[in-house]
Amino acid sequence: MSFRTIEWRDDAVIMIDQTRLPGEEIYNSYSDFTSVAEAIKGMIIRGAPAIGVAAAMGVALGAREIIADTHDSFFRQLENVCDVLARTRPTAVNLFWGIERMKRVAEEHRGKSLDKIREILKKEAIRIEQEDLTICRNIGKWGATLIPEEGTVLTHCNAGGLATAGYGTALGVIRAAHEAGKKIRVFADETRPWLQGARLTAWELMKDGIPTTLISDNMAGFFMSRGEITCCVVGADRIAANGDTANKIGTYSVAVLARENNIPFYVAAPVSTLDLSLSDGSKIPIEERPDSEVTHIKGIAIAPEGVSVRNPAFDVTPARYITAIITENGIVKPDYCAGLRTVAGK
Ligand code: MRU
Repeated sequence: MSFRTIEWRDDAVIMIDQTRLPGEEIYNSYSDFTSVAEAIKGMIIRGAPAIGVAAAMGVALGAREIIADTHDSFFRQLENVCDVLARTRPTAVNLFWGIERMKRVAEEHRGKSLDKIREILKKEAIRIEQEDLTICRNIGKWGATLIPEEGTVLTHCNAGGLATAGYGTALGVIRAAHEAGKKIRVFADETRPWLQGARLTAWELMKDGIPTTLISDNMAGFFMSRGEITCCVVGADRIAANGDTANKIGTYSVAVLARENNIPFYVAAPVSTLDLSLSDGSKIPIEERPDSEVTHIKGIAIAPEGVSVRNPAFDVTPARYITAIITENGIVKPDYCAGLRTVAGK
């Protein structure tokens, strides 16, 4: 890939600024955990797996910032670092997964010197980033088997290299199918209000030379009804034990339209996106974001001042609309409860 979403370099975290794409390819450097938390909140970095990596790197930075004489003091302050990072975005479970993994590793090495623990945390965060790349490639390998030799794949939001450590989940499936020589073209929903599809998915697929057509969200049904979409592949922010899936707002509508038109609807996500502690999707917390994301585009008002607005960032697609869930450990088909536990190793 010709860009890096996030990396640890010279004791700082470098992230491509996704608020500036596609116009400008700018890399920001963060050397303290509070600015990493702000970057997650402000969507400099976004996408569930990428948020998980950023949170883990934030914990590693925070550990380096802590001044402590005793282990008790260090671990108390580390808890605070984790709390600040955990308060950034509520829906993508990878955020909490990344933080918990870092906490567990710190606890496992409690007997070591504080400098040693700091070093171990840094290495763990880098490991999480590298593992994510391998995981996405495996999701791609499994998912490509579901993609026909020829056709048009519709995707929603950005579940690509920019939403992961690289390669992507839904776009990983598309990349792997393309690499395997399948003649596919992508329809990218623009994904109002934040325009992840228009700004990010179109940008990264065009960079890779994968034929891409941008449509506005309300066009998906038109193209499906005309027989122009072969299948849909999307990512996920949190998948409940029964397969109900939270993903970018608008995903539910795409899934319902796909069912109406007899089009397979696939979800691609790493096992770290599974939240088997939740029995179904109604329990997934849904983030609501600022009104200005709906009323303004690039600072320009597109609605009357003072209008009432709702801006949920995610919706939940009931499992019954999902043809299969593609993970790094294999493809799960309904009934999801047992299958998801198997791929999660539980
Ligand atoms: O608000 P965002 O941009 O973080 O939402 C991202 C999505 O909904 C993605 O589809 C999801 O995180 C999967 S990313 C591989």
